[in-house]
Amino acid sequence: MDIVHDIAILRRLTAPAGTVGLVPTMGNLHAGHLALVGLAKRRAKHVVTSIFVNRLQFAPHEDFDRYPRTFEADCAKLAAEGVDIVFAPDERLLYPEPQQYIVQPPPMANELEGRFRPGFFNGVATVVLKLFNCVQPAVAVFGKKDYQQLLVVRGMVRQFDLPIEIVAGETTREADGLAMSSRNNYLSAAERAEAPRLQRTLREVGARIAAGERDYSALGESALRELTKAGWKPDYVEVRRRADLAEPQETDNSLVVLAAARLGATRLIDNLEVGKT
Ligand code: PAJ
Repeated sequence: MDIVHDIAILRRLTAPAGTVGLVPTMGNLHAGHLALVGLAKRRAKHVVTSIFVNRLQFAPHEDFDRYPRTFEADCAKLAAEGVDIVFAPDERLLYPEPQQYIVQPPPMANELEGRFRPGFFNGVATVVLKLFNCVQPAVAVFGKKDYQQLLVVRGMVRQFDLPIEIVAGETTREADGLAMSSRNNYLSAAERAEAPRLQRTLREVGARIAAGERDYSALGESALRELTKAGWKPDYVEVRRRADLAEPQETDNSLVVLAAARLGATRLIDNLEVGKT
């Protein structure tokens, strides 16, 4: 496995490599990331995993500085998974000058996560486009854990005609249902025990939809109340259309319930697909 910090060297290594699959990450890798690597390996001859904590997608008050950085351990895990190249650019390499050309995603990116993290998807889309240009993959794998991010990336690839197939990986969970996340490391023992409630709440919403309830805003509000009662500070629980995250019409039955909520100082997100595929 090569560990590469430089774009020119990266291109020299990947040019003759045939189909390249990319798994972009911010490091602190867990089984969810490694499952995406597994998917990439099935789809592409050579797998590149990027590790880059992207300042552009963090607001000034957010956790950029304390985001867990575990580079050595990450490389050991990736080597064990059979990754060919770890691309870990220095910040000065990816942003040698202030990044003034910014990808502006559509209005959908200002809802849900974007409503509570203004500019977040501009930062994500911009770095993902840069990573795509550095690595030039044929396939790139993203997790459904970050459902809206997956849709923003898919839309960018479609509208900019990028010759890249986007593959979605299912959310990997702990045994008690909590979606794996680097931010789970921030939870105290008591918070960790409480954290699976987020997924349970989504399942309850899903069960009520399956039972025929169609008042989606009432369902979202009752989930918000339940989380608040249990000591969470929820940002949103919303039922949306899977294809574009628009508010569902009566006839839409391919849905996803998305949620973000703060438990103590930690903000967790999760989602659940409901209805037909
Ligand atoms: P990061 O949070 O490190 O996630 C990297 C990839 O792993 C994303 O595609 C994310 O959706 C996926 N992922 C995280 N937890 C997962 C889980 N429990 N199950 C399945 N997939 C999971 O998302 C980012 O980094 C950044 O925004 C990035 C795309 C790298 C741009 O900076």
